[in-house]
Amino acid sequence: MQLNDKTIIITGGCQGLGRAMAEYLAAKGARLALVDLSPEKLDAAVAACRAAGGEARAYLCNIANEEQVMQMVDQVAKDFGAINGLVNNAGILRDGLTVKVKDGELSTLSLAQWQAVIDVNLTGVFLCTREVAAKMIELGNRGAIVNISSISRAGNMGQANYSAAKAGVAADTVVWAKELARYGIRVAAIAPGFIETEMTASMRPEALDKMTAGIPLKRMGKPAEIAHAATFIFENDYFTGRILELDGGLRL
Ligand SMILES: NC(=O)c1ccc[n+]([C@@H]2O[C@H](COP(=O)([O-])OP(=O)(O)OC[C@H]3O[C@@H](n4cnc5c(N)ncnc54)[C@H](O)[C@@H]3O)[C@@H](O)[C@H]2O)c1
Repeated sequence: MQLNDKTIIITGGCQGLGRAMAEYLAAKGARLALVDLSPEKLDAAVAACRAAGGEARAYLCNIANEEQVMQMVDQVAKDFGAINGLVNNAGILRDGLTVKVKDGELSTLSLAQWQAVIDVNLTGVFLCTREVAAKMIELGNRGAIVNISSISRAGNMGQANYSAAKAGVAADTVVWAKELARYGIRVAAIAPGFIETEMTASMRPEALDKMTAGIPLKRMGKPAEIAHAATFIFENDYFTGRILELDGGLRL
């Protein structure tokens, strides 16, 4: 699919990987619908996309809320007249060991920590995919959906919630690729390793150094490298149901 004049929704589009993908796709002439929680950051991201050469609009929406997702998708379709793609990028971390004993004290991962990550990183992806696919079929638009999974989908210590959600996203990428191919909608995913964004900046410096030392390429990935991969998925019409691993050679 050529990206020029195509309407692409990016969740979590106001910072980190979402914003990097938005600016990259804007430079290819795409029309971006940026979905996120902060009006100020959304405005800045919209301005950056316009400066990069694409049209962009902001949509305040919590992707874990069914009603808000349905309204957002309806509004994007009204504003742009078409939807050709979605990047399911919004995500959160609530890390912690499932059971931990420190200095003789036992603590556990709370249900709230578990549920918050499942709600955004898995249910949010389901809701956005369902609503966008339904709208694309209704409008007769073809295109592609790109899910952002993670290297953690293989199972990462301290991330029972996140690993489960990202493994679920990887599995459902294959499910949706099979279900939606008949409507001209491809679905694929990217599983990033460690990429330089606000999310990884929140990690402890010692943990970051230790992690970087284990990467064969000895550095974190750059957001533009993820944006390049998302662009490949949109542009290559034979790519569907598969997961691109972009992790500098690191395997959990
Ligand atoms: N940075 C990495 O190293 C890395 C590695 C693997 C996977 N990922 C995945 O890539 C995606 C983007 O990560 P990032 O590093 O750019 O994170 P980030 O925290 O910098 O940005 C995430 C964005 O999602 C938005 N968001 C969170 N919850 C939302 C909700 N309920 N509704 C709407 N928007 C919401 C946030 O406001 C934020 O703007 C995430 O899915 C993350 O799990 C990141």
